[in-house]
Amino acid sequence: MAETTLDLRHLPKAQAYAELAGQIEAVLVGVHDEIAEMATVSTLVHHAFGFLWTGFYRVVGPGLLRIGPYQGTLGCLEIAFGRGVCGTAAAERRTVIVVDVEQFPGHIACDARSRSEIVVPVFGPDGALIAVLDVDADRVGVFDDEDRVGLERIVARFRA
Ligand code: SME
Repeated sequence: MAETTLDLRHLPKAQAYAELAGQIEAVLVGVHDEIAEMATVSTLVHHAFGFLWTGFYRVVGPGLLRIGPYQGTLGCLEIAFGRGVCGTAAAERRTVIVVDVEQFPGHIACDARSRSEIVVPVFGPDGALIAVLDVDADRVGVFDDEDRVGLERIVARFRA
């Protein structure tokens, strides 16, 4: 395999996401296995930016998310729709950016070092919500609209 895990922190964010999206598509060309895809996306996103925690919570029942492939310290196992940042993004089917987790009522602290967070909904081919992608950083204010655009583009592969 020619591809290696890249550190893209030296690039402007939009350029880093463009490069990352290209790499993910190259590594996963022809792969249609949600777990393999989620595991690969987790590690490549995580190491590209040096995030604190990067991973998926999968929809496993009505209103219930369960931990999927991730990178980082131990994540909580289950989150109900409507709870925390992940459950809010799942219930509202939209990306949620939290600039400062201490200002988000109900934030679930899996890793006490988490200071900011973005959660992106993941839709399957029929438009149903299949998971959310949760990314945490150890500094306040890390995530903005460029992260939303970049991460939504990456998870768009699950619609295909
Ligand atoms: N902070 C998330 C919980 C998941 S962990 O950060 C891995 C939330 O509030 O939903």
